[in-house]
Amino acid sequence: MIISKKVLRNVTLTAHPLGCRQYVQNQIDWVREHARKTNDALYRPVTSDALPKRVLILGGSTGYGLSTRIVTAFAGGADTINVSFEREPSETKTATPGWYNTMAFEKKAKEAGLAAESVFGDAFSDETKARTATLIRKTLQKVDLVVYSLASPLRTDPATGVTYRSVLKPIGEAFTALSVDMDSPVVKQATIEAAEGSQAEETVKVMGGEDWALWIEHLLKEDLLAPNAMTVAYSYIGPKVTYPVYREGTIGMAKEHLEKSAKAITKNLEKINGKAFVSVNKALVTRASAVIPVVPLYMALLYQVMKEKGLHEGCTEQIYRLFTDRLYADKRVPTDDEGRIRLDDWEMREDVQAEIDERWTLQHEGEPLQKGDLEGVRQEYDQIHGFGFPSVDYTLDIDPRVI
Ligand code: NAI
Repeated sequence: MIISKKVLRNVTLTAHPLGCRQYVQNQIDWVREHARKTNDALYRPVTSDALPKRVLILGGSTGYGLSTRIVTAFAGGADTINVSFEREPSETKTATPGWYNTMAFEKKAKEAGLAAESVFGDAFSDETKARTATLIRKTLQKVDLVVYSLASPLRTDPATGVTYRSVLKPIGEAFTALSVDMDSPVVKQATIEAAEGSQAEETVKVMGGEDWALWIEHLLKEDLLAPNAMTVAYSYIGPKVTYPVYREGTIGMAKEHLEKSAKAITKNLEKINGKAFVSVNKALVTRASAVIPVVPLYMALLYQVMKEKGLHEGCTEQIYRLFTDRLYADKRVPTDDEGRIRLDDWEMREDVQAEIDERWTLQHEGEPLQKGDLEGVRQEYDQIHGFGFPSVDYTLDIDPRVI
């Protein structure tokens, strides 16, 4: 079949296998080049001995999790296991991008002599935890690092069987702000209604730290964590303009819970001299973030300003800095006063945010977006589904099961 982009309510439903392969390859190339290059002022080269050798990534098929897998494998020479939720392809239907990415990554990693395996299933369930434990014991014996990079709309609590749904809503009152859609540069007003009933608590159940703690508890119980093992989960704070919908909204409550969980998990890891961290990352186009109202407008301005200042990063660059400048740079991991790693340091730089604030005042309802890089945001969104790569012939009739 000829695979084209199909979009429903801002969500892309199809993925292109050859484009996803290119997306993964581009990241591998970047990581390999930077790991050995000595003359890039922004990114340090790295000797692979400094990085962990056995890594478990929960949500390692797209976005930040996939980049984590690529950096640990291709800069650090790590054997990796990914746990993610995917739809496989059929003769007439494409797979999820995460499935294609995973196939492409694992082929390349194995060619490089690295172990690379996946468990496809619901990471929140006891069954997936048990399957993962068996696979770790078989292929890695133990793990040195567990990365928690899940972004999910729902979670079934394995203890009670109750299913919770996460929502991205302000708390208390509705929030109205300027926004753009991915497919139109015209600025419009978007209103997000306030969370109702138990929606905030449910979002904490899904996107907070409860499941992260359960994973670590399970791995400890099964004796699958190596001495000094670390674990890291990803969070976001962002600028004041997105506070009502993000940091002070339902998802922000969940992220606060996640950040607090790091302290409890560290306590639990004392027996193996391990440690848990939260890394606050930059706003980036991923399948999870692109559908948040207000965020595409903010990202369009952020991308443009950071590109002009030579500071723009994608998931790969962010995660490369996490490993080479933060988690494994020194004996003491640099954090803020709350104990969080800050990879959003360039996004939150005063000059960057001041420029975004200034450009925000140029935006008016019904008029085209001014001085922003919506095209760059859109291009990245296409690419995470395997579309928009000049090297791929999208008119080709291919089998969606090709890998
Ligand atoms: P993403 O949507 O690209 O990746 C989510 C991953 O979770 C995928 O591998 C998916 O298969 C997996 N997943 C979802 N539900 C699952 C389930 N039930 N069982 C197993 N796997 C499941 O998301 P993204 O943006 O990379 O987010 C990862 C983390 O990074 C999230 O915690 C997010 O809040 C955080 N973050 C994201 C930022 C952004 O701008 N995208 C900024 C800072 C932090």
